[in-house]
Amino acid sequence: MLSKSIQEALNAQVAMEATSSQAYLAMASWAEIQPGLDGVTEFFYQQSNEERMHMLKLIRYVNERGGFAMVPALPQPIITFTSLQKVFEEFLKHEVQVSESINQLVGMALDERDFATHNFLQWYVSEQIEEERLARTLNDKLELVGDDKSGIYLFDRDIMIHRNAIGGGK
Ligand code: FEO
Repeated sequence: MLSKSIQEALNAQVAMEATSSQAYLAMASWAEIQPGLDGVTEFFYQQSNEERMHMLKLIRYVNERGGFAMVPALPQPIITFTSLQKVFEEFLKHEVQVSESINQLVGMALDERDFATHNFLQWYVSEQIEEERLARTLNDKLELVGDDKSGIYLFDRDIMIHRNAIGGGK
């Protein structure tokens, strides 16, 4: 049985994953109406799906442990961006926040000696290492590219290959 505090913290994490999923969906939709960003569009549709999967995993876990997973209300995410760089900065910001939140949850599970939750969260710990790494790498690449159109073309063409190579798409 989950303690009240762990249940609340896991429900807050459900909201966070849902928020990320919506944010990435908005990025995908924005990218889709820009010329020549097919790769970025696909990337964020997939990221959005992944975040939904992260959310579902938490929901199922909370309910399985005798708690009640609450589906959250969500604010509208950022829906327009002034540049591709802004999109990816925002992506990294989300991932860093998620990692911090997961770390706090892990600490809390240990404090409360809830080893089942601690064990459950290890998957998220590994996932966040990969996601943050991916977000940082893509930001670094975009910084190199700057406003160069042919660079953006190549970035867009390679993003999915890159994602799969770095361990995304699980
Ligand atoms: Fe589920 Fe990318 O945080």
